Amino acid sequence: MSDELPEHVARNRAAWDVYAAEYEEPGRRNWAAMDEEPCWGIWHVPESEVGMLPADVAGLDVIELGCGTAYVSAWLAHRGARVVGIDNSEAQLATARSLQHEFGLEFPLLHGNAEVVPYPDESFDFAISEYGASIWCDPYRWIPEATRLLRPGGRLHFLVNGTLLMLCSPDDEDAPVEDRLLRDYFDMHRFDWPGDSAVDFHLGYGDWIRLLRANGLEVEDLVEVRPQEGATTRYPWARLDWARRWPSEEVWKARKSR
Ligand SMILES: C[S@@+](CC[C@H](N)C(=O)[O-])C[C@H]1O[C@@H](n2cnc3c(N)ncnc32)[C@H](O)[C@@H]1O
Repeated sequence: MSDELPEHVARNRAAWDVYAAEYEEPGRRNWAAMDEEPCWGIWHVPESEVGMLPADVAGLDVIELGCGTAYVSAWLAHRGARVVGIDNSEAQLATARSLQHEFGLEFPLLHGNAEVVPYPDESFDFAISEYGASIWCDPYRWIPEATRLLRPGGRLHFLVNGTLLMLCSPDDEDAPVEDRLLRDYFDMHRFDWPGDSAVDFHLGYGDWIRLLRANGLEVEDLVEVRPQEGATTRYPWARLDWARRWPSEEVWKARKSR
């Protein structure tokens, strides 16, 4: 029941049940691209430049935290992984289920909060999140949970908005990112946007490193994503000229100690 959820999770559930309609068509396009090289984030940067996936996922137990329409899970299942997707929005999962039927590829989809996942410790080899738990869950809750779910040596890869992008983003969520710092770096954590009920979370670099390491995760890489020239996006706040100069997205790669 939504009353039992933490406040930010209940708010994000209500918000994503509304946003879900806008994600159906992009979700379908991504499912349909199952045979192609995966592309990531708002600029569709190819896997070869980002390395979101381990070299070989066949036979791995994988969980996608905040799977939305579950196209990332579909890409992984199609490549031979045993995948589970969890998402907080029943409406997003309804799209995911209908895409499973449409494309003839099924895997378990759970409705729930990725900060508290109903799987035993050490159930997975790989955990992934592209703008899922990685920005919509409280990192001080979902990182310990993702670590608990991983086997020793297991990997956690996640994609988030770039820290600089968050600092240069105006309060109006749809207004384009600016070329100047608009908010404080210190004490970054929870972002409440005026006029929007959803809540997202972003940390500074030192806080990310300390949080990952405190949970027994070794940071293997931080990829500052740079879109290709001519890249396009459907998000009105993003600017290609900006994103060619500064990282608008970041991929963190961490590994649980053996
Ligand atoms: C942007 S989608 C991510 C899926 C896909 N990679 C994409 O970029 O479209 C964000 C998803 O995170 C989910 N989400 C938000 N809070 C969550 C939580 N506490 N637990 C699990 N999923 C959550 C939302 O319901 C939404 O489906």
